Amino acid sequence: MLARFHEDTMVLYEAPTTIEHEPIMKVLITGAGGFIGSHLVDFFLSEKHQVCAIVKPGAPTNNLNQVYDARTGKAKMDSLDVKFLDVRDATGMRDAIESFRPDGIFHMAAQSYVKPSWEDPVTTMDVNVNGTINVFEPVKALELDTRVIVACSSAEYGTITKDDIPIKESLPLQPLHPYGISKVAQDLLARQYHLNFGINTIRLRFFNQTGIRKVGDACADFATKIAKIAVGKADPVINVGNLETARDIQDIRDCISACWKAFQGAKAGEVYNCCTGRSSHIREVLELLIDLAGIDVKVNERSKGKLRFQDELTILGDGTKLREATGYSPRHDIHETLEDMLEYWKEYHASGEPSGYSKSYYIQP
Ligand SMILES: NC(=O)c1ccc[n+]([C@@H]2O[C@H](COP(=O)([O-])OP(=O)(O)OC[C@H]3O[C@@H](n4cnc5c(N)ncnc54)[C@H](O)[C@@H]3O)[C@@H](O)[C@H]2O)c1
Repeated sequence: MLARFHEDTMVLYEAPTTIEHEPIMKVLITGAGGFIGSHLVDFFLSEKHQVCAIVKPGAPTNNLNQVYDARTGKAKMDSLDVKFLDVRDATGMRDAIESFRPDGIFHMAAQSYVKPSWEDPVTTMDVNVNGTINVFEPVKALELDTRVIVACSSAEYGTITKDDIPIKESLPLQPLHPYGISKVAQDLLARQYHLNFGINTIRLRFFNQTGIRKVGDACADFATKIAKIAVGKADPVINVGNLETARDIQDIRDCISACWKAFQGAKAGEVYNCCTGRSSHIREVLELLIDLAGIDVKVNERSKGKLRFQDELTILGDGTKLREATGYSPRHDIHETLEDMLEYWKEYHASGEPSGYSKSYYIQP
């Protein structure tokens, strides 16, 4: 049963803080075809849990190749159910949650990029805000005791000064783009559903998470291009944006471990930075990848189309709160992450059929 909320204030006065669950859990993952979502699917399947993977209709499923056959439309294991569903479909989400009755929800589905959020802020808000409401409403209506991990973002902090580094959860939220604003709304909704209705929400503010399967961040853009050059499928030229920035870059395996530890031990209703606490300069990321590939590359800096309207100079998180609550600490350094990414993209570009290429840390083919 859910904890009760106070009638006058609508503020929760009794909420469970840690989870007790059966050895085999039912885990529903939205955004399951995406980067973090697909690694979560692999992780929970490898741990023998039952997984309901919500994939956007029409979205690529290549990240799920190890566990799902797109040709036949069948999961490769009994413990996996793949549902093609838009998180904006309130009825579909309710039906999925009602029939599966998950012990845990990992809500990763999102329009997850900054640039499209400037171009189409309405869709970004719709998917990220209404899509989140459509996760919480069935949990509330069905009075489920489900733990809901919500993928929030360091983009919520937005305007920061040198004095704010490393960023703590208490820093005011002043996002610089519609994506960041949609994440603030999602974050506050998760807080509100906890306070008003006792839903066991845990907000993880992800800083840069990267690794194999990632597309569309600096590490992935550089790694895929350098790998393509290394296997002889592109000219040795790379166009890049601003190399003067620094980011808190966390390996996907650490991200998954943080999500799992947060699920097990974080306090319901709370918000946590999910980060390494170490900053990596984007110039060094590029140089390291070129070094690892052992090739000569002409780098065109500040190329047109690669620069953002707004680009925070340094984003570095303080992960103390999550560490103290759960014991989580990152294990993989940036060198190891980039090495894996480069290898991944080399194999991808070298394979005859790149869309069929996949690799998993958790599931062996
Ligand atoms: N990767 C990061 O560095 C990072 C940083 C901060 C926050 N986040 C957040 O973490 C979550 C996962 O990020 P990711 O890197 O895996 O992103 P991703 O873009 O790879 O995955 C998001 C998934 O959501 C799906 N999706 C989009 N619209 C949908 C809809 N209407 N209905 C159902 N599914 C839909 C996409 O198809 C995609 O598979 C996102 O919420 C993102 O905003 C990620």
